[in-house]
Amino acid sequence: MKEISDGIFYVGVDDTHIDLFEGILPVPNGMAYNSYVIKDEKCAVMDSVDAHFGKEWLQNIESALEGSKPDYIVVLHMEPDHSANVFEFAKKYPEAKVVGNFKTFVMLEEYFGTDFADRRLVVKDGEKLNLGKHELTFVFAPMVHWPEVMTAYESFTKTVFAADGFGKFGALCNDEPWDDEARRYYFAIVGKYGAQVQSLLKKLSAFEIKTICSLHGPVLKENLGHYLDLYSKWSSYMLETDGVFIAYSSVYGHTEAAAQKLAEMLKKRGVKVEIGNLIRCDKTYCIAQAFKYGKIVLATTTYNAEIFPAMREFIDCLVERNFRNRTVGLIENGSWAPLTNKAICAKLEKCQNLTFTQNNVTIRSALNDKSIAQLDALADELSK
Ligand code: FEO
Repeated sequence: MKEISDGIFYVGVDDTHIDLFEGILPVPNGMAYNSYVIKDEKCAVMDSVDAHFGKEWLQNIESALEGSKPDYIVVLHMEPDHSANVFEFAKKYPEAKVVGNFKTFVMLEEYFGTDFADRRLVVKDGEKLNLGKHELTFVFAPMVHWPEVMTAYESFTKTVFAADGFGKFGALCNDEPWDDEARRYYFAIVGKYGAQVQSLLKKLSAFEIKTICSLHGPVLKENLGHYLDLYSKWSSYMLETDGVFIAYSSVYGHTEAAAQKLAEMLKKRGVKVEIGNLIRCDKTYCIAQAFKYGKIVLATTTYNAEIFPAMREFIDCLVERNFRNRTVGLIENGSWAPLTNKAICAKLEKCQNLTFTQNNVTIRSALNDKSIAQLDALADELSK
């Protein structure tokens, strides 16, 4: 088993067969369910893994422990991708204590019909668990991403066990850059709870951190400032990079042509641009891009006198995740009644600190000189 820090071993598993995480989120490169063993005078297992991998995980633990028995299983997060095998573990190791907080045990009872009353260790925020040289301090992180979530700081190796925090989509066997799939993971799963993530970052800033162990994605050891900076930006809804993201839905290709034309105009003005087709691309990719850039353009067809469904759902996702602090440009298309610019403004009314561009675009069926001139004016405004 791989030793990731002095006395801490990786015992997680890779899921290369999964297509939809949480039943809804595409994961083309699979998923990792991470778990760790801390070996010391006392041995602790940090979380379990998804239900399909119980046997492999228990074997990994056995191999990491080399004949020792675990004294604790620490349950930082009860979502079943991490807690599904707690009961199996408890059966295999009847002497081991189950460590969680008050809410953890309520959920354990709900999932397994037992709250392990005779062998539980209920911890409070800030409480410590000494294992020998290694010592865990529990740092509660409610709503990152469920109410019972807690993280744990291990002081000997200066390691944070961050629960879902700093996670990313993708199995570990698929080596890929961290940022894109971590951003998509963050905004798909935790994005709504920026204030709670900020609160966790503040609590963790009291500790010197050398390693971050998430429940998903790689163990982070190098350049930690990069990851912490991105988490700080994402959770405070600050833009990550200058530029424009154009999200569009198009039926016969005319709205798409407008989106492409605007992208071309912006690129000529030296603006960084990305485009997302809301019909062909899973919306989680577009949600992540919308939060990455400081400016977004929403281009859509009018459909049944309403916003085209893919765009409507996309906007709902942004609102649900507290979309804010951005400039928004609008392009509407309709053969008999282009109506969406006003409707989109109304949908985004709940979002804080949005600035709508003055030069929005109305297309009647297909681009013409008039609407191309409007796109030009929008490109000018967005490039300032
Ligand atoms: Fe990876 Fe919220 O579970």
